[in-house]
Amino acid sequence: MKKVYVAMSADLIHPGHLNIIKEAVKYGEVIVGVLTDNAIASYKRLPFLNFEQRKMIVDNLKGVAKVIAQDTLDYVPNLEKIKPDYVVHGDDWKTGIQRETRQRVIDALNKWGGELIEPTYTPGISSTKLNIGLKEIGTTPGIRQRRLRRLLNAKDSVRIMEAHSGLTGLIVENVSYNDVAKKEEFDGIWLSSLTDSTAKGKPDIGAVDLTSRMKTVNDILEVTTKPIIYDGDSGGLTEHFVFMVKTLERQGISAVIIEDKIGLKKNSLFGKDVDQKQDTIENFSNKIREGKMAQVTDDFMIIARIESLILKNGMEDALNRAKAYIAAGADGIMIHSKEKTPDEIIQFCDKFNKFKIKVPLVVVPSTYNTITEKELHEHGVRIIIYANQLLRSAYPAMVKTAETILKYKRAKECEEYCMPIKEIINLIPGGK
Ligand code: SPV
Ligand code: MG
Repeated sequence: MKKVYVAMSADLIHPGHLNIIKEAVKYGEVIVGVLTDNAIASYKRLPFLNFEQRKMIVDNLKGVAKVIAQDTLDYVPNLEKIKPDYVVHGDDWKTGIQRETRQRVIDALNKWGGELIEPTYTPGISSTKLNIGLKEIGTTPGIRQRRLRRLLNAKDSVRIMEAHSGLTGLIVENVSYNDVAKKEEFDGIWLSSLTDSTAKGKPDIGAVDLTSRMKTVNDILEVTTKPIIYDGDSGGLTEHFVFMVKTLERQGISAVIIEDKIGLKKNSLFGKDVDQKQDTIENFSNKIREGKMAQVTDDFMIIARIESLILKNGMEDALNRAKAYIAAGADGIMIHSKEKTPDEIIQFCDKFNKFKIKVPLVVVPSTYNTITEKELHEHGVRIIIYANQLLRSAYPAMVKTAETILKYKRAKECEEYCMPIKEIINLIPGGK
């Protein structure tokens, strides 16, 4: 019996997949390599179903003899193991992102005289279209919540962008950039206290209470499916923090980040210009412990944010706190800095990486913005948060437009800064 290899993500099974298997059966025994979350996340968004679920579906498809995991987008490691006589894939991969993958398959097969079979791609069906449909249906709190942990398991680093309204939530959800080998997207949403407060015209001092913050969260939940990390300031009193945890967890938020400060909250980027104090290690560790006990599921994450570098309390203090907070049960550590260069962050990361017990490391490169995601990952960073850029870019554009109308006493001249009327009325589908 000849061996036939087919690889697929099998997230949204459609007749196109069945046609490929039907074709493959004609050549011999069909082995399907189901791509793992890691393999898929290396070139596009995470699948809706996890690996075990997708494997189970393929296992039960007619004509499939065996299912194995394919750990990379590259077929070669599996091909070398199986040495199939045939590989079957739709002819749609001759161009685009998968072109190189295809060439590597051909080169590998040539080594043992195998052959690539490319049936015509089934037109009119595409996972991309099904994905758009799924996004319209939405998600559930549980699925959204677990997505952050899944992303951490599947990706080198997770890229998070700030949103402070339904509209900015949509930008984080939908904007993508087609890079050479990969479609780049944001993985999730940061519910910044700074931008949420600023968008409401209030200072970032905790004056916008949890109830108002949850209104913003709800606007974003309504129109997005990506995981959300909530900026919980200091979490307030421990007695109050436990309620915050329950509220956020119930809504399907994936994580809260709380900072180790006490007293009236001030934005960290003021540094020593304002009076802000760090909490004791004991008190903050206790807050983490109580928070962990308050959550209902295992999925929700409490991430401890260390302000030692912001408050010039030294690297040793930052590292000691990291160890203590991990021991108290923190699911992640965020280290913050307001330096222009990433030096102190890198120093912290490199020391953190030597810890025996580690948790995902989070950074917010707002001031030290020259460092790339790749460099941060090389120093062990797992979550990168772009904390304020959408609001910071929108505000000057809006002020410019307002000034232009005041200057010319009419709206013609500001048109060049505005999107066309036709575009805004059609921006959100369903308005017609
Ligand atoms: C926020 O976005 O509100 C943050 C990050 O907490 S920072 O503004 O840098 O403190
Ligand atoms: Mg904040």
